[in-house]
This record gives sequence, structure tokens and C-alpha cells, in this order.
Amino acid sequence: MKVSSSFPYFSKDSINAILADMSQMLNSGQLTDGPFSEEFERKFAAYTKAKYAVAVSSGSAALDVALRHYRLAGKEVIVPTNTFVSTPNGVVFAGGIPVFADMDPQTLCIDLEDVKRRVTSKTAGVIVVHIAGLICPQLLELREFCREQELFLIEDSAHAHGATLDGQMAGTFGDVGCFSFYPTKVMTSCEGGMILTADEEFALEARCVRSCGQNANRQMVMLGDNWRLSEQAAIVGLHQLEHIEEFLAKRNQIAAWYGEVLGDVAEVSVLRPPPNIRHSYYKYPVVLTSGIDCQKVAEVLKRRFGVESGHIYYPPCHLQPYYMETFGSCVGDLPIAERVLKQVMCLPMHYLLTKQTVDYVSEALVSSIEAVV
Ligand SMILES: Cc1ncc(COP(=O)(O)O)c(C=O)c1O
Repeated sequence: MKVSSSFPYFSKDSINAILADMSQMLNSGQLTDGPFSEEFERKFAAYTKAKYAVAVSSGSAALDVALRHYRLAGKEVIVPTNTFVSTPNGVVFAGGIPVFADMDPQTLCIDLEDVKRRVTSKTAGVIVVHIAGLICPQLLELREFCREQELFLIEDSAHAHGATLDGQMAGTFGDVGCFSFYPTKVMTSCEGGMILTADEEFALEARCVRSCGQNANRQMVMLGDNWRLSEQAAIVGLHQLEHIEEFLAKRNQIAAWYGEVLGDVAEVSVLRPPPNIRHSYYKYPVVLTSGIDCQKVAEVLKRRFGVESGHIYYPPCHLQPYYMETFGSCVGDLPIAERVLKQVMCLPMHYLLTKQTVDYVSEALVSSIEAVV
């Protein structure tokens, strides 16, 4: 058996509907900046109950566009070390300095107390990442803190489409929410991203920045780049969005199946969300007991059982060669992330998994752990 760690899902009906829209789009001659992108923005805003949505070419572009708004030259932005590199990269591209913060070992999300310790007179804002699809459980306190300190708060919601806290959608708590529609994500547009905001001026500026800095009259009024979403990507995204609630229900079902089997395994800690949070389960991370070599477990799992697994994220950003060389971060700077993330494994999580496959993966994990300890 081969079990992929992620796989995008399109039903036959969805593929047919996408092909019909593709044909209409190709015949129309409007291949970018057209009605499908506008509809995608409108429907994503309606789904998340956000005021404005601006479609862009990737999640990285969403961060790049959003961060430019804050004129970061010489300023610091606090980011979790546990994230994909695009989060701090966006700060650097916007002229700022990323300051990495440690994480809460129970949630794998940024730790509020560590954020507080890292604020200086140069701090302009904070980026929170809803890691694996869990809205950072300290989000409301973090937002309060940012408001008190007059810092911007960006939610990197690349993992958290449709995740909610007290019924409110990820990406709508901070000043800006940034989403990715990369193929492994909860929903995809092949490549693509979206920015959410309640600030009309911010949305206008984002539209301008994503179009090489040109306003609606085609005058270049600021520096930007081509970060537009193509119409073909918007079509795929629109059809995925139609099914997002089904995707989320299935991912939550799969998580419950894993939890039933792995909840009783001594060497494996499963991470359960608080009751007021709906997880989007972009990934299903488990933490193996300290001392178990995760890399070896992953190798046995793949070689003997055909099961792919992943990290989220190891090594963390501050230990990536670029950040060590350019910003001087080093081993020991963020001890919780360094210790815990080494023990984290992400098990297969995607729409096509069945209960039988989840049981197979869970048993294979237990056997692989036994084989290496
Ligand atoms: C937390 C996080 N932020 C940003 C991104 C960047 O998104 P994209 O790959 O669409 O550029 C990713 C992507 O994979 C991510 O996981």
C-alpha cells in the first residue's frame, strides 16, 4: 500500500464544472484580472465574513503584498520560528527584520509570553500562524496585546481555511489575513492566495501593489509587482470553495479516527483543540516521546509500510542556513521549538483517506516506533 501525506481532491462533477468554466474563460479572451477572480474574491469574503478579499498569485505573495503596507525599513516584526519560510521571508522582502519567537509546546503556535519579551521600540507588528489549521488559542489575548502596544497583527492563515474560534473565521481577527491555495492545502487553486481585511484603503492599496503598483487608471503610484491571480486559478479555487465544508468535515472525521487509535499509545501525544475552536486539519501532527528518533520512524514508515509523513516545521526558521547567516540566529535561541519540533510527525491527511487507511497508518506508526526503540 502507498499512502500519500497529502492529495488534492476533485470529484468528477467538480472536474467537469471546472472544464466548462475553463472553456468559457478561454473563449472570452479574458485570462487574468477578470470575472472569475472577482467572483472568487466575493465568495471567499462571503464565506469568511470578511469585508474585503484581494486575490493574489500565492500565499507568499499575500504576505509580500500585505507587509509592504507597513513601510518596514529598519523595523522589526515578530514571527513564529515554527512556520514555513515564506512568513519571515515576507518581512525581509518588505525591508523589515524578522524577530523569531518561540512556541507553546501544547499547540505548536507562537507563545504570547515570548512575543511580549521580544517587543522593542523598533517592533512594528506580529505575525501569528495558525499552525496545522489550529487557530492560535491565544489569539484574542495576542490581539489585545497588539492593540495596546499599537502593533499590527497579521494572521498567516495558510493552513486555516474555514477554521473558527468562537464561530469566527481564521483570517478575520487581525488587521490582515493571508491565505495560500497551494495544492497540499485544505483547498487549492493550483497556486494562489488571498488577502482579507476590513480596511478599505488597505484593500485598494493591495490591489494596486499586486498589479505592479498601478491604480485603476493604470497610473503607477507605488512600487509593486505582478502578484495577480490568473483566471484559470480562480476557476479552480471557486470550485474548491464550493466544497470546503465537506473537506473540513472529512478532515475532522479523519482526525477523530486517528485520535481513537493513537490516543492510547504511550509514545504518541495527539494534540486536541479546545472546544471553542474548529480545527481545519491541514496537517495531523503528533508528538513522539522525547528520545524517539522521528526521522528513523519516518524512514521505517515509508520503507516498510509505504506511508509518507512530514514535519511541521523542522528545522524551524531560525535554524535555516539563510537566517543563521544573515540574521545571526543559532542553536539554543528558541529551545522549546528546537526540542519539540524534532519530535513532531505529520501523518497523512487528505480527503480520500478512509477509516481503514487511517487504522493502517496508525498501526504502521506503532510498529515503526517499536522497530526503532
Ligand atoms: C504558514 C505558511 N505561510 C505561507 C505559505 C506560502 O504559501 P504559498 O506556497 O502559496 O506561497 C505557506 C505555504 O505553503 C505556509 O505554510
